[in-house]
Amino acid sequence: MTTDELRYDGQVALITGSGRGLGREHALLLASRGCKVIVNDLGKAYDGSGNAQSQVADEVVAEIKAAGGEAVANYDSVEDGEAIVKAGMEAFGRIDIVVNNAGIITPETWSELTLESWKKTIDVNLTGVFSVMKAAWPVLVEQKYGRCVVTASPALYGAGVAAYAASKAGVIGLANSLQFEARKLHLDIKCNVLVPQANTRMVQDLNANISASRVAKGKSELKSAPVEILNRMGPEKVSAMVAWLAHSQCQSEAKVFEAGAGYFAQINWARSAPLFATEKDGVEGAPLPEHIRDGQDTLHDYANGDMPRSGDGAMGSPNALEWVFGHLKSKP
Ligand SMILES: NC(=O)c1ccc[n+]([C@@H]2O[C@H](COP(=O)([O-])OP(=O)(O)OC[C@H]3O[C@@H](n4cnc5c(N)ncnc54)[C@H](O)[C@@H]3O)[C@@H](O)[C@H]2O)c1
Repeated sequence: MTTDELRYDGQVALITGSGRGLGREHALLLASRGCKVIVNDLGKAYDGSGNAQSQVADEVVAEIKAAGGEAVANYDSVEDGEAIVKAGMEAFGRIDIVVNNAGIITPETWSELTLESWKKTIDVNLTGVFSVMKAAWPVLVEQKYGRCVVTASPALYGAGVAAYAASKAGVIGLANSLQFEARKLHLDIKCNVLVPQANTRMVQDLNANISASRVAKGKSELKSAPVEILNRMGPEKVSAMVAWLAHSQCQSEAKVFEAGAGYFAQINWARSAPLFATEKDGVEGAPLPEHIRDGQDTLHDYANGDMPRSGDGAMGSPNALEWVFGHLKSKP
């Protein structure tokens, strides 16, 4: 391994939900590399219920200080991003890194999910990121620099937690849009997405709750992963990715990264080869559903497709669009 350590001296990181689990590990790692940290956490149950336990943020701050680092605690909900950013600016006068980590999950299956629970999840996991980023953005723009991470979940690929999955898919669109804004302003601001997996309080309490509700319905207990697997899935195994995405050397833009148990991967959108049904192909007017049916091979041909650049906000590979528009332009 290289010895030129990635450092964050003189920088400030705002990490939401960093009183426990993944956020705590991100905070400890960045602080150990010279970063000042705003440890935001209101200390709620995994599903956002219960009384606030603000000591979780205090404990992380104490841990950072004991190791010689600098940190302040903040106990506001991410739904009030303005208050969190104000407190951070008052403490340290700048914010270079924003890690949107706070999140909740509720255990209902689709048939049990209520509008109230849906809204509660979206409010924290998606609107909370909006609120924090809305407040932090002018600071980053003023500094002409920033590194932002939003936290999604493998649940967005499809799992039995619809509100959670929708909120986590939503933050990807948000990160893409922020990256688009940063590019428009020609600023060194990068926004990327983390898809983590770790054995934290959230996972343990969610599984315990689902298991209890299964037993109450006369079903068997939820089968837990073997202890030796769980032991390998500590949240500290994820934070290296966050620290990298938070570093000035990282040039990734609006990319999605999986991280867990020492495994890392980058996820890309994949676009198939283009299927055309235009005048040039002998199709006058609107394409028919049969053109789509008969074009299935093309739509599954990823070898001749491309990878859209997240944050572009445009459909079609540049070559394909050039082809279509070039053809239309050349028509009399
Ligand atoms: N653990 C996993 O396997 C996993 C998988 C996918 C995604 N995630 C995501 O990673 C993030 C961290 O998860 P974790 O497993 O460490 O969970 P956790 O429950 O252990 O920690 C989350 C922390 O966020 C805080 N929080 C909750 N609502 C908040 C709010 N409104 N404002 C401020 N703080 C708030 C909680 O008090 C808690 O301390 C979450 O966004 C979660 O959805 C976790």
